[in-house]
Amino acid sequence: MSYEVDYFNEVIDRRGTISGKWDGLEVMYGQSELVPMWVADTDFRAPREVIEAVCERAKHGIYGYAFYGFPYKEAPIAWHQRRNQIAYEEDSLFFTPNVVVSLNNIVRALTEEGDKVLLFNPTYGPLEKQPVFANRQIVRGRLLNPHSRYEIDFQGMEQLVKDHEIKLFILCNPHNPTGRVWTESELSQLLKICQRKGIPIVSDEIHSDLIMPGQRFTPMMKVARALEYEQEVIILNAPTKTFNLAGLQVSYYITENKAYVEKINQIKDYSHTSDLLNSFAYLAMTKAYEHGADYVDTLKEYIYDNYLYLVNELAVCPFAKVTKLEATYLVWIDVSSLPLTGQELRGKMVASGVAIQPGDDFFEEKGLFFRVNIGCPRKTLEQGVQRIVNCLSEWV
Ligand SMILES: Cc1ncc(COP(=O)(O)O)c(C=O)c1O
Repeated sequence: MSYEVDYFNEVIDRRGTISGKWDGLEVMYGQSELVPMWVADTDFRAPREVIEAVCERAKHGIYGYAFYGFPYKEAPIAWHQRRNQIAYEEDSLFFTPNVVVSLNNIVRALTEEGDKVLLFNPTYGPLEKQPVFANRQIVRGRLLNPHSRYEIDFQGMEQLVKDHEIKLFILCNPHNPTGRVWTESELSQLLKICQRKGIPIVSDEIHSDLIMPGQRFTPMMKVARALEYEQEVIILNAPTKTFNLAGLQVSYYITENKAYVEKINQIKDYSHTSDLLNSFAYLAMTKAYEHGADYVDTLKEYIYDNYLYLVNELAVCPFAKVTKLEATYLVWIDVSSLPLTGQELRGKMVASGVAIQPGDDFFEEKGLFFRVNIGCPRKTLEQGVQRIVNCLSEWV
């Protein structure tokens, strides 16, 4: 089925649908009449084939325990083969309700209490919080931001692995919140640093389908295989960001390391987070991966146009530096020259009628930033961006 821009232009009322992004506004921001540009789901319908399959299954009326077999692994494996030219084996892919659960289990399986975990700052919050909840110590590597495009401080990273006994490295590729797609050469350098010290790597690739024009996604596993370090790499992924399925809870991790599989299984047994998902999750994932290529291609263009609109409108506030968007629908904006804390900025945005996330949510240490979610119809975007500009115009 082909997807036109109109599919994404439609403004759909999500209030009253148990939507975290919309129905959660009152609890999270103290007001319900805001344009929600915060939590990372889109305001787009899933592909038609997903909706049809889920509706058909819902009509059956019996929602007992699901069972899955290998057929459900075929769709994600075929998707990665087609889209990213990488082959994964069925016995290395494991389902899990969501990426954060996987991360939690993997951290607990591969490290001990007190161990040091390295990641880059700023970061998607749970990538840091989950190790902290498990009493692991965080070592923050730096990302440099010379020209509104983030870069890895390799020298700094070399020093950190020298100074600390790092037991796990967690990477987000593409990176939330900075929107970077790490290149093959960058991944190779990262891998080599870890390889020299035998540090296992978790690569969160949940945003890997949403790559903007002119950019190219490189799976960490591909580079690891070239360096013969694939046994030490675990991939996290999901169809949920791409096809707006997060409420159905479906994701998976990929590891070829049998010893890691064993250790992770022990933690899963303990926490009763088995591979069993719900029936709708399997169906939605399968239909999305089987039929969603055209949906994703149109969606990426749509998001990129939204990004260009945002950049254009924000030009009236020259102090607001929009980070180059290479992937995702999450835009990271530097407003470090403003005399505010992140929470004050958040409050001012709420007063202007828009819900954004300040840099604090991403452990940003070097200045005042905020992240906006532009995964919405153009009309919603226009409303939200106008409110952001109104808010910032106080300092123009
Ligand atoms: C990088 C990254 N990882 C994981 C998640 C959460 O995924 P899940 O809902 O499957 O836990 C998000 C959601 O925003 C994300 O941006």
